[in-house]
Amino acid sequence: MWFTCNIVAFLACLWVVLASSFNETEPRASCTVTSYSKVAEAVASCSEIVLDGITVPAETTLDIALQDGAELRFQNEIKFEYAAWDGPLIKISGRGITVLGLLGHSLDGQGSKYWDGKGDGGGKAKPKFFRIEATGGSLFQNINLNNCPKHCVTIANSDSLTLTEWNIDVSAGDSQGKNTDGFDIASSNNIVIENSVVKNQDDCVAVNHGTNMKFSGLTCVGGHGLSLSVGKSKTDASANVVSNIVFTNCTVENSRNGIHVKTHSDATTGITRYGINIQEDYEEGSSTGNPKGNIPITALTMQNIEGTMAGSDSIPVYILCGTDGCAEWSWSSISITGNDTSNYCNYTPDGFTC
Ligand SMILES: *[C@@H]1O[C@H](CO)[C@@H](O)[C@H](O)[C@H]1NC(C)=O
Ligand SMILES: *[C@@H]1O[C@H](CO)[C@@H](O)[C@H](O)[C@H]1NC(C)=O
Ligand SMILES: *[C@@H]1O[C@H](CO)[C@@H](O)[C@H](O)[C@H]1NC(C)=O
Repeated sequence: MWFTCNIVAFLACLWVVLASSFNETEPRASCTVTSYSKVAEAVASCSEIVLDGITVPAETTLDIALQDGAELRFQNEIKFEYAAWDGPLIKISGRGITVLGLLGHSLDGQGSKYWDGKGDGGGKAKPKFFRIEATGGSLFQNINLNNCPKHCVTIANSDSLTLTEWNIDVSAGDSQGKNTDGFDIASSNNIVIENSVVKNQDDCVAVNHGTNMKFSGLTCVGGHGLSLSVGKSKTDASANVVSNIVFTNCTVENSRNGIHVKTHSDATTGITRYGINIQEDYEEGSSTGNPKGNIPITALTMQNIEGTMAGSDSIPVYILCGTDGCAEWSWSSISITGNDTSNYCNYTPDGFTC
């Protein structure tokens, strides 16, 4: 199935790009690091750092807390020695920071040593790959991330952060890779992710918690589509809020869903192929069949979405809402063909005939 979507919005499509302002104070010490043992010293003393072809020891996070306004560049291949552990393999934090991949660089998670078809659900422990906690107009640009053991990029505790021109390629894991989410985002605000490619086996983007985000120019191949996945916390209701999220000008190919909005409830059953799949009965990768309105989905706007589907049990639009769980949705120009099964809607958005 391939899919083109134009504007999926939560609540009003308000989008405020905060002006990025960080301080270019002089002088800036410039340091090139070619071995892991020299990283800490460079991070502490330099405001321009090149990591050139280093190998990160097993069971170690390459933990880089940059100085305010510092710049980090990746050059050549950054390797991470194998170990069955939880990771992350790399964590970068800072305020007003710039992280750039130079031409020909890559970060390789050696996924083939971990993939066992079980993902998070058993088998070997697998590390998450790349964690970002950045604020104050930070930019991460042109990063080539390959062979994620499981989740590729985790963005948390971030505010005013842009990711552009990422190339995430986990396509070598198409038979055994699992839970290889592209971008997972929690506890963050004012996030832009644009002009990037994700080839993987799970959500291309999954927003768990946060506000004011814009995703544009994304190409997603092989995975589970563009997702809002809300309600992971069983104890903190404030962690189960997602608002003002816009997806625009994105393409999803050969994936289980085009667009997937899921709110968590309980227990498990199976899942099939969906163009637009909105379910309030999600739990642990599956559907309970018992939707709940505990996490209402309000003002969900869809415009100019077109796509084709293939395969048995392919459903263009599936909407399963709990009692009082869905309101004020406005849809227009939805065209999805090639399906094997009809739409299902227990709630019908304005402007859409189910
Ligand atoms: C930049 O640094 C200078 C000197 O420390 C300070 O006076 C100024 O307020 C800073 N500007 C910003 C935008 O942080
Ligand atoms: C849509 O995204 C593609 C990249 O996938 C980009 O080349 C194109 O310029 C974007 N179009 C608009 C109108 O933003
Ligand atoms: C595809 O979905 C549309 C919309 O629900 C429906 O009218 C059509 O019958 C479906 N096609 C098949 C083969 O079920």
